[in-house]
Amino acid sequence: MAEQTTVRNERREQGHVPALLAISVVAALLGIGLGLLIDWFPTAASEEAESIDTLWDVLLIVSVPVFVLVTTAVLYSAWRFRMRPGEEELDGPPTHGNTRLEVIWTAIPAIVLVALCSYAYAVLTDIEDAAADPALEVRVVGEQFTWTFFYKNPDGGQELASPQLYVPRGQQVHFTVQSKDVIHDFWVPAFRMKIDAVRGVDTELRVTPTRIGEYPVVCAELCGLGHAAMRQTAHVVEPGEFDSWLRERAELAAGGDQGGAAGAGEEEDGGAAAGSDGKAVFEAQGCGGCHTLADAGTSGTTGPDLDDALAGKDEAFIRESIVDPSAEVEEGFQDGIMPKSYGTSLAPPELDGLVQYLAEVTK
Ligand code: CUA
Repeated sequence: MAEQTTVRNERREQGHVPALLAISVVAALLGIGLGLLIDWFPTAASEEAESIDTLWDVLLIVSVPVFVLVTTAVLYSAWRFRMRPGEEELDGPPTHGNTRLEVIWTAIPAIVLVALCSYAYAVLTDIEDAAADPALEVRVVGEQFTWTFFYKNPDGGQELASPQLYVPRGQQVHFTVQSKDVIHDFWVPAFRMKIDAVRGVDTELRVTPTRIGEYPVVCAELCGLGHAAMRQTAHVVEPGEFDSWLRERAELAAGGDQGGAAGAGEEEDGGAAAGSDGKAVFEAQGCGGCHTLADAGTSGTTGPDLDDALAGKDEAFIRESIVDPSAEVEEGFQDGIMPKSYGTSLAPPELDGLVQYLAEVTK
């Protein structure tokens, strides 16, 4: 009697297999279609982004059917072999495994995994090996909680520091990434490339920007209280514009006598044009992300409200607060959240302009 039932059940199970496979195929096709339709990533702005996005699509096309097949089998089994009333005390039929099935379901995933890993590895090494000569050298320094970018000075001499990242379109950029303190992670999502910034170690990254625009630079490693605020902007500009921006940085660093004149032609780019316009510096640096300042229309609350904290303070105090934020910490706020890099990363005329502006609007 029991044996008869088992045989009958097996036959019924096999009868379900074609239907289950059909459901799986339809669901997998729908899932792949949906997966390819969804815009998973921000706008792609580099050559590397293309092969990374293709890699993603391939991974998606292979993973969705696996997910669907496993889910279908689990849901079907849970429904088909559920316990019915009166079966509480019964055991299922004894099984001794199915060697052929087990070999198949071990071998196929192993082959799929090795193939996908090899493909992903090939994409990554392709990107890393594509060293162009000459690439633009940019040194990226992460610290709690900001990024500073250093460029070779076209006039020779000291590297030029910039709080914002400027790169020319169509030229490979070779980033050397460093950290002054804990581990950070330099990431421009639009470029699809990221790498850890580790103190005492130089890591590197190659990117060829392809699309003009402004893209966020973020930190992708939890590095402390200000981690979420560790953001900057990457500007991809035409090569000519990049050259004049770099020239302008060199002039600003040299003392800024001609800074205003050089900046006049490029008013759009706040960071570059800010020879002495303190409000432009405030906006370009994203100070308002952390600070409230009525004149600039910002309402950040991570740092002190500048309308209150700077009211009646002189320029010397304001300058010290920017260059050495630990010197005097506003009550109720924690030391170490505001980066200590602005004395280096802002050119002297930018710093002067910012101090004057803040003194003026918080009188
Ligand atoms: Cu730096 Cu998170």
